[in-house]
Amino acid sequence: MLHLRSHAELKSWRESLSPAVCLGLVPTMGALHGGHASLLEQAVSDNDIALASVFVNPLQFNEGADFKRYPRTLDEDCALLESYGMDAVYLPDREDMYPDGYETRVRPGPGGELFEGDQRPGHFEGMLTVVLKLFLRIAPDRAYFGEKDAQQLWLVRRMAADLDLPMEVVGCRTVREINGLAMSSRNAFLSPEQRDDAAAIHRAMLATREVFRAGEREIARLERILVEGIHEAQSLHVEYAQVVDDRTFRPADPADQGSWRVVVAARMEQTRLIDNLRLGRA
Ligand code: PAJ
Repeated sequence: MLHLRSHAELKSWRESLSPAVCLGLVPTMGALHGGHASLLEQAVSDNDIALASVFVNPLQFNEGADFKRYPRTLDEDCALLESYGMDAVYLPDREDMYPDGYETRVRPGPGGELFEGDQRPGHFEGMLTVVLKLFLRIAPDRAYFGEKDAQQLWLVRRMAADLDLPMEVVGCRTVREINGLAMSSRNAFLSPEQRDDAAAIHRAMLATREVFRAGEREIARLERILVEGIHEAQSLHVEYAQVVDDRTFRPADPADQGSWRVVVAARMEQTRLIDNLRLGRA
């Protein structure tokens, strides 16, 4: 597996590829786990060449402490990428991505205002900025993102459509622990008992979907079932737990038959967990 450590190295590698090859990109911040693996597998099987990027993007952390404590496991990450058959990894450093004088940002539209956008000011702006820079530098045919971060996936799709980016954004299903907890690098901060408690989020989403499938369309009722289910774990504190319209990433409107999804963010001590599940067509 090739290690590309700068924009210049990436550029000459990209230029050496035949225009006929199909290139797949998996952008990551490292600390790779089973959740990333589904993106890697899909990128390797769909494309002639698969490239991952590992960059802990300072622009998308609104709390400096969170950026500092973000797990960094580069050697293990590279070994894992290689074992999945990735052809290359791009490892820019801060200076390579944001050289002196850098100041431009990509601002999301209304779909980025609520939920994660509201809880983490500047997060999506920083995320879209680095993703657009990666897309422009790498020019992939396909880029892979997890449904686990549904609002992120939605915003990247929106940006690609709005800015006419000549590529496909591929969404990959959420990978979960056996108990249902969505895999995340932040799970490393939880004890085994806390991880069991945190599985209440998934159980609550499934219970909500069951009631939805039985015909319930009253949003307040669905959200009550969701919140009560999460609070079965006393250590979880809900930041938001809502039904959204998948087409707009705004709160669902029962008068407007959309495709509904529940989105959740909850804190367990210092650790923030997010998850979501599609309910279906309303
Ligand atoms: P990171 O948190 O490293 O996640 C990289 C990709 O892995 C994202 O698309 C995320 O949705 C996906 N992912 C993480 N856990 C997953 C799980 N349990 N199941 C399925 N997919 C999962 O998301 C980022 O990095 C950054 O914001 C990035 C897009 C790289 C921009 O900096």
